[in-house]
Amino acid sequence: MNYRHAFHAGNFADVLKHAVLLGLIEALQAKPAPLCYLDTHAGSGRYLLGGEEARKTGEAAGGVLRLAAAHALPPPLQRYLDQVRALNAGDALDVYPGSPLLAAQALRADDRAVLCELHPEEAASLRALFRDDKRVHVHQRDGYAALKALLPPAEKRGLVLIDPPFEAQEDEFRAIEAALADAWKRWPGGVYAVWYPIKLRRHVLPFHRWLAASGMKNVWVAELLVHPDNTALRLNGAGMAIVNAPWQFERRLAAILPALARLLAPDGGQQRLERLTGERA
Ligand SMILES: C[S@@+](CC[C@H](N)C(=O)[O-])C[C@H]1O[C@@H](n2cnc3c(N)ncnc32)[C@H](O)[C@@H]1O
Repeated sequence: MNYRHAFHAGNFADVLKHAVLLGLIEALQAKPAPLCYLDTHAGSGRYLLGGEEARKTGEAAGGVLRLAAAHALPPPLQRYLDQVRALNAGDALDVYPGSPLLAAQALRADDRAVLCELHPEEAASLRALFRDDKRVHVHQRDGYAALKALLPPAEKRGLVLIDPPFEAQEDEFRAIEAALADAWKRWPGGVYAVWYPIKLRRHVLPFHRWLAASGMKNVWVAELLVHPDNTALRLNGAGMAIVNAPWQFERRLAAILPALARLLAPDGGQQRLERLTGERA
């Protein structure tokens, strides 16, 4: 477990993931019934863009800082940026929220968050961050195993974010498939969002084929490429696969993806929105 998200916080892949995550929470909150948010790989929850790790890579400069400098954003992206700005006192962005903090900011009083993080230091930071928030429960445990233990949630409505570090490269896709298949059997009505890296296209295609044949309904993939997907040597793009996508959620995705490609891949990036299964799987 060498991965530390602090090196990558606020990069283009985080922007895609977090904008989609916030959109999913907003869509679920169209109904008043409480929801449960489960984050299988939560990270530490809060990052400093001026911190040593973030400065070493400078990745936020190609991500959230580009959005912050933009003149006009589509409303869903503006709401995401507003949530980031809410953590920062002035115009400069230093604090960047991880998925748990972004979600917690959006959750209502009756909603609940369950955060799993295996790394002891990251889990300790997460615990400290949410010490006073009774809606948030932190577990230092394997996120995939937690799905078996914790699903379905008592609320019977909600969202699971699966955002592993992909240290196992392509094998991580197989772990996701196994976990997702089992989770979906336990809780077929849950919304699931899976983040994945895009290096070589051929590494991603088997996952898409698996999703298309999985029997799961309303599966969409939203991708952002900042470089061609033809080398395994760098992160060329990122994707979010969404299972049980809320009604007309693709419209929200279509509203943000072109702006993300324009802002985050100014030298000619690509975005892609594809339906893998529909209402009938
Ligand atoms: C990509 S980061 C998560 C970022 C976070 N979801 C966000 O968007 O802000 C992946 C995290 O998973 C943690 N991790 C690695 N293996 C894990 C496992 N089996 N179960 C839970 N967490 C794990 C790592 O320590 C790391 O903090």
